[in-house]
Amino acid sequence: MHNSILVTGGAGFIGSNFVLQWLGQETSDVVNLDRLTYAGNLGNLASLQGNPRHRFVAGDIGDRALVAELLQKHRPSAIVHFAAESHVDRSIVGPEEFVRTNVNGTFALLDEARHYWLSLGNPEKQLFRFLHISTDEVYGSLRPADAPFSEASRYAPNSPYAASKAASDHMVRAYFHTYGLPTITTNCSNNYGPHQFPEKLIPLMILNALKGDPLPVYGNGENVRDWLYVADHCRGIRLALSRGKAGETYNFGGRSERRNIDVVLTLCAVLDELIPESKYIPHRQLIQFVADRPGHDWRYAVDISKSNRELGFSPEETFESGLGKTVDWYLKNSAWVETVTSGSYREWIDLQYGDRKSSEVKRERA
Ligand code: NAD
Ligand code: TYD
Repeated sequence: MHNSILVTGGAGFIGSNFVLQWLGQETSDVVNLDRLTYAGNLGNLASLQGNPRHRFVAGDIGDRALVAELLQKHRPSAIVHFAAESHVDRSIVGPEEFVRTNVNGTFALLDEARHYWLSLGNPEKQLFRFLHISTDEVYGSLRPADAPFSEASRYAPNSPYAASKAASDHMVRAYFHTYGLPTITTNCSNNYGPHQFPEKLIPLMILNALKGDPLPVYGNGENVRDWLYVADHCRGIRLALSRGKAGETYNFGGRSERRNIDVVLTLCAVLDELIPESKYIPHRQLIQFVADRPGHDWRYAVDISKSNRELGFSPEETFESGLGKTVDWYLKNSAWVETVTSGSYREWIDLQYGDRKSSEVKRERA
């Protein structure tokens, strides 16, 4: 295989959308390294079966020997690093895995990338990129009147998830400044779209509403998130790879700030319209306010003027158009839903929501 990129976490939500978009739009091949945790699903890549431009490797980013071997063998022109533990609520219940993958795993990948990069001649060495996908959650929480996060905002992570991503961002930064490894970090807002594991707000609400289960809104539902449709995010990453400057960071957002309760109400209205025969109409009757998430960040919002100016990034979807596409995808893909919601998914839902009305946080070793 020649002219390839190495993608990590490409069987997860954003990674799989990225791999599919990349192979549809770009000419180089993809080596996809993914450990296939509960969040990784080869079903997301089913349409690539037999495609010689995609090579899937089941493995851990922290396995340095494996990473070194893949880099030497395929000699990719870039590493696009999605692999992570990604769910805030899981990081509250069990933070250790977040340190293992997001901090130690990213460190191992970076260090192997450095050795590989040093072995390259020019122009490959100059053109190489280590693109690290991060989150706006590293900047902490905004109050209603605060200006959105920019690339210059102070890091103030509040959840174990955000802290583990912040740590990895710092290590990526240090590898640029200390060793000259050509890194780029992107920090984006909440993604939504096809393939998202239904532990996150939007797919959880869609699937619960379809079954007539309660729609658990944390606290008073007034927390605000910015929503970025996953295909827009993937385009942004491709722009960062082709136009981004080594050592820089870029924010991506959807220009779609919404209160959680409004996200859920909009979703209910979309479902009322799409499934007029549902016995749960109006779906909003399923909304239940439940105990808040501990340390729940109040608001996230991102200023995307730098990525707009320097990369030409602009989201194409509005929240309403993206949500319509997302609901449509979940309605048409019941076999996918069936696979991901069997087995351990039930255990998570019971653990997380079983007695959510009490404010007690379940501990790792409870
Ligand atoms: P996801 O949880 O859906 O997928 C993560 C993928 O990484 C899975 O396929 C999993 O199997 C794989 N993985 C986990 N640990 C691994 C390891 N040690 N080695 C190899 N593979 C491993 O996550 P996502 O929502 O697609 O997020 C992708 C990236 O984007 C993450 O870095 C996340 O922090 C970041 N991000 C996500 C969002 C969002 O809204 N989903 C927002 C901002 C940033
Ligand atoms: P989530 O999808 O977990 O993303 P993040 O915490 O990374 O922003 O949650 C989005 C928002 O929705 C967040 O404010 C928490 C809230 N939320 C609920 O109200 N109920 C739920 O069941 C979940 C999963 C999230």
